[in-house]
Amino acid sequence: MRKIAVVFGTRPEAIKMCPLVIELRKREDADVIVVLSGQHKHMTESVMELFSVVPDYNLDIMSDKQSLFDITGLVLDRMKDVLLTIKPDIVLVHGDTSTAFATALACYYLKIPVGHVEAGLRTYDVTNPYPEEFNRQAIDIISNYHFAPTEIAKSNLLKEGRNPNRIWVTGNTIVDALRYTTGIGSSHPEFEWIDNSRMVLITAHRRESVGKTMEGMFKAIRRVLDEHRDVKAIFPVHLNPAVRDVAERVFSGCENIHLIEPLNVEDFHGFESRCFLCLTDSGGIQEECTALGKPVLLMRSVTERPEGVDIGTIKLVGVEEDNIYSAFSDLLSDSETYKKMLVDSDVFGDGHACERIADSLMRSDND
Ligand code: UD1
Ligand code: UDP
Repeated sequence: MRKIAVVFGTRPEAIKMCPLVIELRKREDADVIVVLSGQHKHMTESVMELFSVVPDYNLDIMSDKQSLFDITGLVLDRMKDVLLTIKPDIVLVHGDTSTAFATALACYYLKIPVGHVEAGLRTYDVTNPYPEEFNRQAIDIISNYHFAPTEIAKSNLLKEGRNPNRIWVTGNTIVDALRYTTGIGSSHPEFEWIDNSRMVLITAHRRESVGKTMEGMFKAIRRVLDEHRDVKAIFPVHLNPAVRDVAERVFSGCENIHLIEPLNVEDFHGFESRCFLCLTDSGGIQEECTALGKPVLLMRSVTERPEGVDIGTIKLVGVEEDNIYSAFSDLLSDSETYKKMLVDSDVFGDGHACERIADSLMRSDND
């Protein structure tokens, strides 16, 4: 029997790790323990409910306006006691959050093997995204098992000297989650307001953009929406007060945008499936929209997910107001450019990533 602790704390980690918990629990020789850091309190609840995953431990670390010191320090400290109690054979962490980094560090100090799900994504600029690029590079230094979603991610790990026998290309578990949620469907009341209009889905939350940069991003969107009154925009606003304040101010009085609370994941995936295009700075939404064949204007200056840009679904538009304005306007007006972006692809996964991760993990030895 192999004792596997699965650790996560934010919304995207929950969405990408719950299907893996379900898959691992099918394996008779796996004893699966779920540890929640509580980095996000409200935004993980509906995900856990949807997948019927109940945490065995919850570090409950979230506070208002939490800093990186708060998250990293509390997870490191509280995780130590939990790991000493559980004594897992391996700990699985996901991606690039501070929950994942601090957990990997705790494992390193306690000499517990780490498996990194979504390993090998890189921008090679530790200021962008911040602090995620540092987190993911540091986790890969510590990890014993690397579950890379794509061949590009694997090649990054190989370039950095990671052991090829400890890297598996699995696809991203987000596609597994997406297959599940789109099977359930969504009937959100906002669909009535949207009716047959072109609907634009918007999200933004990156720490390096919060402040003036984010204000410029939102102003660009507002200018376009004011010029295209037929377009309707849905913006489920992240619970970060620094994001909410700017969004409420910039979009005040704009009638063709609805600022709404964060959506349940099955509803969010319903909006993605129905949208004309998506404007975002998110990591996971790049993968989802590529899987669904929906154009993305990515409001970042660099991406660790070049696969979507290479096939044409994702356009990197930067964070400058005028560049976002031009790219958004063009896509609404130029149907040829728009059509070229309608490429759906399984480049991020085929919906069987969790099986591959569980298979590789259960077959590999503990070293
Ligand atoms: C975190 C991750 C980021 C990931 C994002 C997904 C780090 C450093 N960042 O960023 O990689 O892309 O999650 O959304 O790990 N808040 C609430 N309720 C919630 C969740 C958050 O009020 O349910 C508030 C927090 O109190 C905090 C703010 O939102 O003030 C930001 O949350 P935090 O986890 O610090 O950073 P994110 O920007 O969400
Ligand atoms: N998401 C959600 N509800 C929302 C907005 C996003 O469930 O209102 C989901 C989305 O489907 C994706 C994930 O949250 O799976 C992306 O999270 P986020 O953009 O916050 O983080 P990132 O992926 O950038 O780390």
